[in-house]
Amino acid sequence: MNKKHLESIANKMLEKPKGILAMDESNPTIAKRLASIGVENSESNRRKYRELIVTTPNLSNFISGTILFDETFRQEMSSGVLFIEHLKNIGILPGIKVDKGAKDLSNHENEKITEGLDGLRERLEEYSKLGAKFCKWRAVITIGNKIPSKACIFSNCNALARYASLCQENDLVPIVEPEVLIDGDYTIEKSYEVTKETLECLFHQINIFNIHLPGTVLKPSMVISGNKNNSRADYNQVAEMTIKCLSECLPHELAGIAFLSGGQTDDESTNHLNLMNKKFMELPWRVTFSYARAIQQSALKAWGGIDNNIVKSQEVLINRASLCSKASIGQL
Ligand code: G3H
Repeated sequence: MNKKHLESIANKMLEKPKGILAMDESNPTIAKRLASIGVENSESNRRKYRELIVTTPNLSNFISGTILFDETFRQEMSSGVLFIEHLKNIGILPGIKVDKGAKDLSNHENEKITEGLDGLRERLEEYSKLGAKFCKWRAVITIGNKIPSKACIFSNCNALARYASLCQENDLVPIVEPEVLIDGDYTIEKSYEVTKETLECLFHQINIFNIHLPGTVLKPSMVISGNKNNSRADYNQVAEMTIKCLSECLPHELAGIAFLSGGQTDDESTNHLNLMNKKFMELPWRVTFSYARAIQQSALKAWGGIDNNIVKSQEVLINRASLCSKASIGQL
């Protein structure tokens, strides 16, 4: 493990005033996104859409790295240039999603365990040779009747730590993503309780596995009311309770935090991030974004699968990226 290299990549990922663009939807997920605008989920349409994203003028002003799915990582753009080459040319770090998805957790109804550890070392060696600089692994925790269970939290956090260890062995910065899903009618207090239990377990595992913290990026969900709650907490409460929770659970040595948007509206995702950076200026870590939907959703709609809309869609995308960038330094 080259600690200095890991630290330097992590610092570039977290460079101000930028954040990370997640465009690593698996084929079933991108199928849903394309279906929402009536576009067929074919390889050429996936390429067209993702090419629209990475050729957006001035993207690197606001985006330090992009997370890709395996298909895009190996794919050429219509010009014949590989996506990862194009990203390098415009100064954006290429990253890769390496988990194999969240599967049913045995003997635990409605809970998931993320798979993909078998053969991971060999896959990471290949991604590293091909030019990846960082990786992502997403675990999902569901809040519901008597869940999450300790088994779900523990097994997912253990897998995240094992993944992070294998990444660092290959000089790849791990993004560790424990997502507490927003689905449900739960209160912000419940979200705080579950997020805290999850982060405490995660950093206990990370400590056991001797993960190099300055070469590690955390991608958490915010502490927030469930999306079906009738009196959802306001922007200030989300910002304050999220920072309280992170401050109680995270070691100072961690390279930084890049939030997922997790189904928040565009406005929620930017306002929450902005308030965190505005109100808490003395945090030990950088606090930025690693959004997929909160950057892509409005641009996807503006495109609608029509070539003549590409420029308009790119304008929408760069506007979202610019607002997220401002929020990442509390200047919205
Ligand atoms: O793993 C999830 C993505 O990387 C972030 O997606 O911002 O739409 O929640 P999201």
